[in-house]
Amino acid sequence: MTIAPPTTLAPQTTAIRCVGLKKSFGKGATEVKALRGVDFEVKSGSLVMLVGPSGCGKTTLVSIISGVLDADAGSVELFGVDWSTLRGDAKTGRRGSVVGFVFQQFNLLAPLSAVQNVAVPLVIRGVSQREALRRAGDALAAVGLGDRLRSRPSQLSGGQQQRVAIARALVGNPRLLVCDEPTAALDAVTGQNIMELIKNASRSLDDQGQSRCVLVVTHDNRVFHYADRIEQMDDGMIKAKADDFVYQEQQHHVDDRARNGAGGHG
Ligand SMILES: Nc1ncnc2c1ncn2[C@@H]1O[C@H](COP(=O)(O)OP(=O)(O)OP(=O)(O)O)[C@@H](O)[C@H]1O
Ligand SMILES: [Mg+2]
Repeated sequence: MTIAPPTTLAPQTTAIRCVGLKKSFGKGATEVKALRGVDFEVKSGSLVMLVGPSGCGKTTLVSIISGVLDADAGSVELFGVDWSTLRGDAKTGRRGSVVGFVFQQFNLLAPLSAVQNVAVPLVIRGVSQREALRRAGDALAAVGLGDRLRSRPSQLSGGQQQRVAIARALVGNPRLLVCDEPTAALDAVTGQNIMELIKNASRSLDDQGQSRCVLVVTHDNRVFHYADRIEQMDDGMIKAKADDFVYQEQQHHVDDRARNGAGGHG
């Protein structure tokens, strides 16, 4: 893995700036307004979590930020570059070099082995096959899958596929790492390990010595404490006050533990 050791020396810049983002799916009676005018800003060097009920627009928002999906209106700036005006190859090229995206559904290529899947973004960027496979092997070892390089996705558990997807997002050393539910399929210990890895990415510098940024969509209150900031979405909007939500979620967690008889054990 080529990620540098954690440091806090890099100056903070605005990593993500979204203004007035709107996105609808379908037309007429079946139209769904997934985003209703989202304003959202994240500084580099930070790990921001995005939470909110199912269907509120989290995947839509991070897909637009990552350049996987185009907005109907509004703008996205990544590290000072207006991303929303880019189209076609210019957008694909920039996405490949700036953003690592972990899809909610993994999106691994079924016929390829784990190491080949992780190597794909490097090969697309012109890295030789041999070097790409070497770096992919390192990235898989870093997520604890050094012994499963040749397994196909169908031969891996959900959590292992999740880790392959994370290795694929990190292998290109992206300045922005976006993870959609990275710990949903993982047990508590593996989830913490993955979050440590993701948190380190937010604290490390890229090849040019510039600080990175990590955006994580999650329902998983076991990992909320890794966030520098938590933003709550509801019905296509970012809610003004997120802290109450965090408190409530943690309170639910405590209540559940109390109900299950675990409340007295810290
Ligand atoms: N390709 C699509 N076609 C039609 N509707 C869509 C499409 N993608 C998303 N939607 C709708 O847009 C809304 C927001 O979806 P989105 O996937 O962003 O939600 P989410 O917050 O990520 O939910 P979850 O927590 O379940 O993953 C939902 O009502 C969804 O049904
Ligand atoms: Mg989603």
